[in-house]
Amino acid sequence: MLQLKNIVVQYGVVKAVRDVSLHVGKGEIVSLLGPNGAGKTSLVSAAVGILPKAAGTVTFEGRNITRCAVEQVVTFGLTLTPEGRRVFADLSVAENLHLGAATRKDRAEVAEDIDRYLKMFPILSERFHQTAKTLSGGEQQMLAIARSLMSRPKLLMLDEPSLGLAPRIVDRIFELMIELKKTGLTMLVVEQNATEALRISDRGYIMAGGTLVYEGEAAALAESEDLMEHYLGGGVAA
Ligand SMILES: Nc1ncnc2c1ncn2[C@@H]1O[C@H](COP(=O)(O)OP(=O)(O)O)[C@@H](O)[C@H]1O
Ligand SMILES: [Mg+2]
Repeated sequence: MLQLKNIVVQYGVVKAVRDVSLHVGKGEIVSLLGPNGAGKTSLVSAAVGILPKAAGTVTFEGRNITRCAVEQVVTFGLTLTPEGRRVFADLSVAENLHLGAATRKDRAEVAEDIDRYLKMFPILSERFHQTAKTLSGGEQQMLAIARSLMSRPKLLMLDEPSLGLAPRIVDRIFELMIELKKTGLTMLVVEQNATEALRISDRGYIMAGGTLVYEGEAAALAESEDLMEHYLGGGVAA
């Protein structure tokens, strides 16, 4: 469904992503793991057109989207929920959700989707008219995810959805991903919380120092103590 081929991302002379190739199949949850600074955010941001690619190609559902702007990529059904739960702080929950649907013209269905996601994220229903900045970190993450869903993605990329959240909220977010998978959504999830992410994933990739160092079945990865310790345990620097 999504193919990244030989992607290179540079900040000036610094190469943050060096020749990375990966794929996500329809219906899968795929984890992209690795220590801080590995290049995960750079890779997913470049994939959706937020950052320029110095080299490589991105193909989504058979279409070459390498040079497409992020606004267009969203209309094809590929959406990124960025790191750091960026919601519009001074806008209400309702307004944030509507903005997620800004590229859609099917107004009646937008209203239906809002109803659906308020059921899936009941806390957003309670907070519907509050500004986003009055929400807790976990609630803001739910809003960021619900807002992304409002664009009707076929493939949703989530960059560190559990970062900085209490364990109970982290569990809820992973449960939501399982629910979303059942609705047919395909996901690529960037996580430092490797054990939890692999539990819900079909496959996983590990990045370190800008390159891919491992790819395989999630269960095999989770069972490999060497990999988990070397790349994913205790915040090993890349
Ligand atoms: N805007 C930027 N300018 C310069 N270097 C950056 C920028 N953003 C990230 N980097 C560098 O690129 C590398 C990869 O960062 P990032 O993609 O954020 O990794 P990760 O998401 O895996 O933590 C790091 O060395 C980081 O310092
Ligand atoms: Mg990151």
